[in-house]
Amino acid sequence: MIVKLGLQTSGYRIPVIILPCQGRDTGSIPVTRSKNIVDRIFYMTEVNVRDANVNDAEGIATVHVKMWQQAYRGQIPDSFLDSMSVEDRTEGWKKELEHPYENTFAYVADIDNVVAGWVTGGVNRDSDLHETSIAELYGIYVLPGYTNLGIGSKLMEKLFQNLKDSGYKQATLWVLDTNEKTRKWYESKGWRIEGKTKSEKRDGFDLNEVRYIRDL
Ligand SMILES: CC(C)(COP(=O)(O)OP(=O)(O)OC[C@H]1O[C@@H](n2cnc3c(N)ncnc32)[C@H](O)[C@@H]1OP(=O)(O)O)[C@@H](O)C(=O)NCCC(=O)NCCS
Repeated sequence: MIVKLGLQTSGYRIPVIILPCQGRDTGSIPVTRSKNIVDRIFYMTEVNVRDANVNDAEGIATVHVKMWQQAYRGQIPDSFLDSMSVEDRTEGWKKELEHPYENTFAYVADIDNVVAGWVTGGVNRDSDLHETSIAELYGIYVLPGYTNLGIGSKLMEKLFQNLKDSGYKQATLWVLDTNEKTRKWYESKGWRIEGKTKSEKRDGFDLNEVRYIRDL
């Protein structure tokens, strides 16, 4: 593996030191590590997109809660977001990872043993879709501070590869109708509005979602 230290200035990243290190090179990615002056120092490090296991439950829950609290602020009531707990979600994820449903997949992006993002998907859960060749992306989240580095794209590619290998031809997903930023990201990745919408009642508020579809 090669570790590159560098400086970030006005959006440009200039490598200044390149160090060969021990380890497997499974694809490197620029990661900015700190929030102050050292903000400008980054290094290229390894991102390992791999199957999620039960030991990842806390890391997945952390990404889940932190990204919900950041991305959905202003779209979902603060009272709901602030009540989300990593401990509760960890328990939920442990159960899901210990007893996964048939034909479902879960992958994490592991950077130096930190779960920097995850994706789940598999058999379609929508009862109105009778076509068995249509899978579903259930959720994709990247840890705040690690976005826009290509991690979400790598996770989506990994899921698509496995869905294709399982014989699926297309996939759908549900996204909050107000989540403009992520909708644009999906559209840039070839997803298109499918037409169906749904509204789910949650503790005192409605979750309004739009369905997207994509060929695999
Ligand atoms: C959506 C999300 C998963 C994307 O992951 P990510 O790691 O930030 O995305 P990537 O870095 O792989 O995206 C890279 C590419 O998308 C582009 N991009 C990023 N945000 C974009 C946007 N809002 N609109 C259009 N393009 C965008 C980048 O310019 C980059 O393009 P390139 O590949 O041509 O260089 C992540 O930002 C996230 O967790 N968002 C909040 C949670 C969420 O809404 N999840 C979905 C729930 S349904």
